[in-house]
Amino acid sequence: MNFIEKIKCLLTFGQGVALPLPDISSETDPITLFEQWFDDAKKSGILLPESMSVSTCDQNGQPRSRMVLLKEYNADGFVFYTNYGSSKSQELEANNKISILFHWNVLQRQIRIEGEVSKTSAEQSKRYFHSRDRGSQIGAWASKQSTKLTSSDELKEREAYYKKKFAGLAEIPYPEFWGGWNVKPTYIEFWQGRASRLHDRICFEKHDNEWTHFKRHP
Ligand SMILES: Cc1cc2nc3c(=O)[nH]c(=O)nc-3n(C[C@H](O)[C@H](O)[C@H](O)COP(=O)(O)O)c2cc1C
Repeated sequence: MNFIEKIKCLLTFGQGVALPLPDISSETDPITLFEQWFDDAKKSGILLPESMSVSTCDQNGQPRSRMVLLKEYNADGFVFYTNYGSSKSQELEANNKISILFHWNVLQRQIRIEGEVSKTSAEQSKRYFHSRDRGSQIGAWASKQSTKLTSSDELKEREAYYKKKFAGLAEIPYPEFWGGWNVKPTYIEFWQGRASRLHDRICFEKHDNEWTHFKRHP
C-alpha cells in the first residue's frame, strides 16, 4: 500500500456515513443515479471504488463470484476487461446472464445490476489494452487465466518469456484472447443503509426499452 493509499485508509477507517437519498420520479434515469453514487464513492476516499463482484453460473447451475474493476459505463452498459479463456468468460459464453455488485461500506450503499453481456468490439478492447502499463500488457500475455499452474515457476517463466519476446517492440501486440465484456442492464437496485435495518431499496426494471421503478421491503 502506498503513502496516499494509507492516508485514504486512515481518513475513512471504520466510518459509515449514510447520505440522503435523491428524490426519485418517473423521470429518474438509473444510469444518472449510478453516476451520482459512483462519484460519491470516488469522493469518499475508499480504495478501488470501481471494484465490483461479478457473478456467473456454470453449466451445472453452480454460481461463482469474483471481483473485477469497472472500466467504462454509459447507457449501453458497464464494461470490465478480462481473459476470454478464463472461467468467467467461458461461463458467460454459455450463459450470457450476469449479476454485478458494488458495495461501498463507508457510504452504507450497495448497487446490484443484473443483465446480459456481450463482448466489446475488438477496437474498444484494443484501445483499452494499449492504455494499460507495459507490465500489465505483458501480464495479460503471460497468464493463462483460471487454468491450473503446472509448476510454481510457470507464471514467472511465462512472464520472462514474453518480456524477452516483446523487448524490442515499442507497442506490445494486442492478444485476441483478452478483452471486454459489456453488461447491458435490465435491473438496477440501489440500496441505502438506514438505522434499525429500515434500509431503502430503490429498484429499476427495464421493459420495452423503458425503465420503471419501485421500492422493496429491506
Ligand atoms: C479488487 C480486484 C480487482 C480485480 N480486477 C480484475 C479485472 O478487472 N479483471 C480480471 O480478469 N480479474 C480481476 N481480478 C481477479 C479476479 O477476481 C479473478 O481472480 C480472475 O479474474 C479469475 O477469475 P475466474 O477464474 O473466475 O475467471 C481482480 C481481483 C480483485 C481482488
